[in-house]
Amino acid sequence: MIASALALSLVGLAAASPITERQVTPHYPATEVSKGFHLVVNVTDPSRDFEPSIQNSYIASIHTGAGLALVGNVPSTQNARVFYQNGTSEEKRTGRSNVITDSGTPPFPSGLKLTKDKGSDVSTADLNAGSGSPGVGLAAFPSPYSYLYPETWLACNESLPYYQGQHFIIFKQIPQASADKAPAECVPVRLLPECTELNDLPDGSYSSHEWAIEDRCYKDVKSIKWSEYGP
Ligand SMILES: *[C@@H]1O[C@H](CO)[C@@H](O)[C@H](O)[C@H]1NC(C)=O
Ligand SMILES: *[C@@H]1O[C@H](CO)[C@@H](O)[C@H](O)[C@H]1NC(C)=O
Ligand SMILES: *[C@@H]1O[C@H](CO)[C@@H](O)[C@H](O)[C@H]1NC(C)=O
Repeated sequence: MIASALALSLVGLAAASPITERQVTPHYPATEVSKGFHLVVNVTDPSRDFEPSIQNSYIASIHTGAGLALVGNVPSTQNARVFYQNGTSEEKRTGRSNVITDSGTPPFPSGLKLTKDKGSDVSTADLNAGSGSPGVGLAAFPSPYSYLYPETWLACNESLPYYQGQHFIIFKQIPQASADKAPAECVPVRLLPECTELNDLPDGSYSSHEWAIEDRCYKDVKSIKWSEYGP
């Protein structure tokens, strides 16, 4: 009597467990959707991280003149840039949308732009006033992860003339195929979107959120335990 009740309940458990397991341990971290996002730095090879670490720091801008800025990082969401993808659904689908952050009062668009360094495969990212580069955006389904393309992004320790040669971590990009030729002062990183609210714009803004694209983002990147996910 007891044995058969036990056997029955085991059958019940065996039948129920695959479903429960799939719900409890997805293969990839869960995403939500939002128009606005912060970009979080993920050092894909932790052995190459800087000291102090830049893991889970946030993308910010480094002022380098009127309407001019390079791409840098800050430890927390305070002073981190709020980004949005901009474009029609057709532009997004064909990889021609752009990524923008609003600057100034009244707000104007500063697009993420890539400009080739002289005689190099490496491009320097900037957030100067303007539309930025088409072809910068968040990887779409069926990519299991959401991250900023075009990869590979680099975090580079460079001295900036505007700051009398002081060193900053600035962000660059190199085609994935040449990533092993990245300069020695640079470390490959992924830039992951963390959901945040896209603010309303005040009257008189030069920016517009009419074409802001809703897309996948992570709720809290630093809480993701990467070892639980694969491949
Ligand atoms: C983030 O970096 C960790 C190592 O620090 C790595 O295991 C993980 O795959 C990376 N995440 C993505 C989405 O590339
Ligand atoms: C945003 O996308 C729309 C639609 O393509 C375009 O008309 C507009 O100029 C873009 N805005 C910026 C700042 O790039
Ligand atoms: C960047 O390079 C300078 C000069 O070599 C060095 O003093 C500084 O510690 C480096 N910064 C980081 C975060 O590694």
